[in-house]
Amino acid sequence: LGKKIHYFEEVTSTNNIAKEIAASEEEGTLVIAEVQKGGRGRMGREWVSPHGGIWMSVILKPGIPLRHASRLTLIAGLAVANVIRNMGLDASIKWPNDVRINGKKVCGILTEAKAEVDRVDYVVVGIGINVNMDLKDIPESIRAGSTTLKVELGRHIKRVSFLQDLLFELEQQYINFKIRPFSHILNEWLALSDTIGKEVKVTTPSRIIEGKAIGITPDGALVIKKADDTKEEIIAGRCIYARP
Ligand code: BTN
Repeated sequence: LGKKIHYFEEVTSTNNIAKEIAASEEEGTLVIAEVQKGGRGRMGREWVSPHGGIWMSVILKPGIPLRHASRLTLIAGLAVANVIRNMGLDASIKWPNDVRINGKKVCGILTEAKAEVDRVDYVVVGIGINVNMDLKDIPESIRAGSTTLKVELGRHIKRVSFLQDLLFELEQQYINFKIRPFSHILNEWLALSDTIGKEVKVTTPSRIIEGKAIGITPDGALVIKKADDTKEEIIAGRCIYARP
């Protein structure tokens, strides 16, 4: 991954550029920018992307069914969490895609796929990491729940070496993804997840589901056991811990 890199000073969104060029690019191509003016988060939210972060999108062509595309989100979260843990920080994953340190979000992932019938043509995995920003660079509305690597480590981080480590880790995970049963990766993901076992409230565009997070399906859906003991699988949503 990252044999070819498109580097920009400023873009709307690296995911937008990656999607525009994906059809004609080889898998592994990376789009990266210093600043995003129209950075996008999940569920139509804005993703503020000032100088100092890593805002990047990787083009993958795994040839998998569309319903498995969210597995790549889990893989990317795992890769980011592993690299941050190797720096000595206690990173965990909050379903589906937030990497957090001490309960505060440091990275978000936005996976977008294009499919023909049921096979994906390409998947764009967008990864945003708060690296060398100060808390004042983060919008006030989300500041309390956010952090940056610089804040956590108390020093400036070399973004190029971080990126090298991340691409290496992501490639390892992607190779495993292709050759191993997905349950291996799922187990690794579960070990770093702090969601399972917690009382959660998940908001989807249509409703709110409350209960205990008890597991994750091979497609990355969260399994919730509700108060009436019935179970429900949720493929996408915003997850809040009832008792953080
Ligand atoms: C989220 O947690 O809501 C997902 C945030 C994803 C942000 C990254 S930054 C690089 C890529 N380009 C975007 O516009 N979004 C993703």
